[in-house]
Amino acid sequence: MNTECFDIIIVGAGAAGLSVALDLAKEKSTRIALISKGPIHEGSTFYAQGGIAAVLDEANDSIESHIQDTINAGAGLCHHDSVRFAIENGKDAIEWAIDQGVEFSLEENGKDYHLTREGGHSFRRVIHAADATGKAISQSLLQKIKQHTNIKIFEHHLAVDLILSQQSLPTNTFSSAAKQCIGLYLLDKNNNQVTEISAKFTILATGGASKVYLYTSNPDSSTGDGIAMAWRAGCRVANMEFNQFHPTCLYHPKAKSFLVTEALRGEGAKLRLPDGTPFMYKFDEREELAPRDIVAQAIDYEMKRTGSDYVYLDITHKSPEFIKDHFPTIYKQCLKFGIDITKEFIPVVPAAHYTCGGIMTDLDGQTDIHNLYAIGETAFTGLHGANRMASNSLLECLVFGKAAAKKISRDLPDYECEPILPPWDDSRVTGSEECVMVTHNWDELRRFMWSYVGIVRKNKRLLLARHRVNLLKQEIDDYYRQYLINTDLIELRNLVTVAELIINSAMQRKESRGLHYTLDYPYKDDKQFLKDTILIPHP
Ligand code: FAD
Ligand code: SIN
Repeated sequence: MNTECFDIIIVGAGAAGLSVALDLAKEKSTRIALISKGPIHEGSTFYAQGGIAAVLDEANDSIESHIQDTINAGAGLCHHDSVRFAIENGKDAIEWAIDQGVEFSLEENGKDYHLTREGGHSFRRVIHAADATGKAISQSLLQKIKQHTNIKIFEHHLAVDLILSQQSLPTNTFSSAAKQCIGLYLLDKNNNQVTEISAKFTILATGGASKVYLYTSNPDSSTGDGIAMAWRAGCRVANMEFNQFHPTCLYHPKAKSFLVTEALRGEGAKLRLPDGTPFMYKFDEREELAPRDIVAQAIDYEMKRTGSDYVYLDITHKSPEFIKDHFPTIYKQCLKFGIDITKEFIPVVPAAHYTCGGIMTDLDGQTDIHNLYAIGETAFTGLHGANRMASNSLLECLVFGKAAAKKISRDLPDYECEPILPPWDDSRVTGSEECVMVTHNWDELRRFMWSYVGIVRKNKRLLLARHRVNLLKQEIDDYYRQYLINTDLIELRNLVTVAELIINSAMQRKESRGLHYTLDYPYKDDKQFLKDTILIPHP
């Protein structure tokens, strides 16, 4: 039987996947498969709070200032071409989002867009939809997607692995790899069947990998599937040691992964110890508005020093009306847990939030493999360096999504879809009666990553983590070869790969820089480490 053929497969329906899909679908004859492993809206994008950074107030702000702030936050590792590209295209990306129907918050005059400020930014330049920017983006873009009959949506379908052509090809412009992606294996979660689908181009827009840590602001979908699939297929991966911990997630036993946006600090909220004393002044002259790496490390230090399980965030200097108007989601969510943020301090802790490393791409999103693209949080474009500045991520999704669409549209006529792909072979595996291996290893992996490879690292802890990850990898590989696959197993297999990439990258960087802080080498070493950590897969 012939395989279902598309022009383009897009894995992921977050800001990155949706923006590339909408641009590609403008050509009505282009057949697109848009895949999401859960409900179509589910992913980090939907939960984004603060907003999108772009230079919109040209009277006060400037492109050069946004560039400089991004480079400063990135602690020496930002790729300047990527930074300039993202920021120079920021305004157009916002205008495009507005054209798609995203309703950003306005000033009281009802005319100008309200801009907020976050850590590392010298000016107010974050456009937002109250404190639920991601939801507004996701809903508007999805509404547009549904108007395109040339986009076939595969909801509750999980991409398992990429399929590569066996032919030898000339090297592509980005690297020396000589393989071409011609489709992928797809698990239909409704019936647990795997089929192969074929395409001229495949785009990974699968989001980050913060679920590799026990505590995270991310939804369950952030299991690094794209990074692991690309790595297995032969793509280089860079800077995986730089995992960002957001300083302020709500501390409450029942508040799973709830973020308290940095925009609160942008509006003057103070961090306080449990006895009410402020402490950020001891760590950085920008205090609460220092970049995230500094704030998260300061909180971690104070929690360890005082033996406390949390610190407080205090926005009570603002009027109740202002708080309810600007932060309605946070106000309501905290109230559910008995905290009235107009009168009370919010207990907060840092949690894994953003994967700065990822699949290496050029400025069009092209990876090492022909016709395989990566965009959004799964990609490494060099924009973020050693620490992503707040609200630069949604910007990256939109700008690089549009760049990839432009390049692919140009190249599309040169390719044919492969009508027959090697079928998924599960003839030698059986159903498992021992799912406990999967649940146990999920838990163990995320726990030791949190304890040994978290905000503050040490050689000894990294060695312990490497030992554990090697054992788990062996167990998971054996299990994968013996039993029928399901979502938990696939995600666990991907997470253990990502964990290994993070640990190996962290062990190579024998210095402290940005989000990678180690007690064994507490200072920056520009002589040896002013460079990316690039991991090359074995052939
Ligand atoms: P996602 O939005 O995570 O989407 C990933 C998609 O891939 C999903 O559709 C998922 O189903 C799909 N997928 C994954 N694996 C597979 C697979 N194997 N098969 C099929 N489908 C798959 N950034 C900002 O710039 N500003 C903010 O204000 C902001 N606030 C944030 C608040 C929170 C709580 C969080 C978690 C993040 C925030 N970020 C913010 C970061 C930003 O939201 C993300 O980096 C960005 O949304 C990532 O978009 P994406 O399209 O790359 O991935
Ligand atoms: C936040 O709103 O604090 C998150 C912003 C971001 O991650 O960019």
